[in-house]
Amino acid sequence: MWVFEETLPTGEKLSECINRANENCKYLPGIKLGTNVIADPDLESAVKDADMLVFVTPHQFVEGICKKLVGKLRPGVQAISLIKGMEVKMEGPCMISKLISDTLGINCCVLMGANIANEIAVEKFSEATIGYREDKEAASRWAKLFTTPYFLVSVVEDIEGVELCGTLKNIVAIAAGLVDGLDMGNNTKAAIMRIGLREMRAFSKLLFPSVRDNTFFESCGVADLITTCLGGRNRRVAEAFARNGGKRSFDELEAEMLHGQKLQGVSTAREVYEVLTYRGWQELFPLLSTVHEICIGQLPPTSIVEYSSTEG
Ligand code: NAD
Ligand code: 13P
Repeated sequence: MWVFEETLPTGEKLSECINRANENCKYLPGIKLGTNVIADPDLESAVKDADMLVFVTPHQFVEGICKKLVGKLRPGVQAISLIKGMEVKMEGPCMISKLISDTLGINCCVLMGANIANEIAVEKFSEATIGYREDKEAASRWAKLFTTPYFLVSVVEDIEGVELCGTLKNIVAIAAGLVDGLDMGNNTKAAIMRIGLREMRAFSKLLFPSVRDNTFFESCGVADLITTCLGGRNRRVAEAFARNGGKRSFDELEAEMLHGQKLQGVSTAREVYEVLTYRGWQELFPLLSTVHEICIGQLPPTSIVEYSSTEG
């Protein structure tokens, strides 16, 4: 397992601590990893013998990591991305799995779902969805590898749909957190989730007409939306943002509340907003647009209901 190296307050390196204690002392303390898991801070050495690669870092770091991996992988290596997010390039939006496949010239599936990490770590039952393009055999191999009695994986041939579900629900979770911070109650939150799901589907289908409606009923769709809007970090930090009347920035709250973990919803809202403005789609997506405008302080947190409910 490649680990982005850090020095812990004790002076010990994160990779050394993981290998000594057999647990991730900073990001997942108290959970024993398999004894076969060895933390390696050297990216090239971590990948050199691998023929199956699992990508899971905050999405803003993927491009830099992939550039370092060019020419370092074994031929025929298969990849899967668990990363929820997208990049916006000059030529338009680019999903993370495509960034990985295009940069490294390898096949890359995605795995998304209602998968809050610390619940999975203690083996509470959950489901996930693997999305693939064309190579069903590779997707089935990944499903076999990830499936356990407490982690049930289904496979669908809709890579963009699965990945966009995982990506866009983080923006809706920010909206749900704002509603919580404003003490607006469960009916309002359910309304925001419904409007959000509708915009997720419409946006995905406008970007990729091949996206299937059924994908939104898989774990990656409605189930991930529900769990993140109830118990995720995007929701929690957005609640704090609204309780502070928008006076403390998301960056400040993220640093204070998440201790090095990263919010994906705020940057994804900015990336999606770029796509909406470039394509002239803003009025069609009042919730997705409003979340970004609130995050950057252009609108107050209270606008979340006022504007999002002007559904296009
Ligand atoms: P995180 O938000 O907890 O961020 C911390 C991780 O980022 C650490 O592993 C740290 O080593 C790494 N990191 C920090 N700086 C880095 C850098 N410069 N380069 C590379 N890595 C760096 O991370 P996470 O929760 O593991 O999220 C990773 C991805 O998985 C995200 O796309 C997220 O949406 C997705 N995801 C997370 C969960 C969850 O519950 N945590 C569930 C499903 C999917
Ligand atoms: P948060 O990043 O909001 O905690 O969401 C985690 C997640 O993606 C659960 O599936």
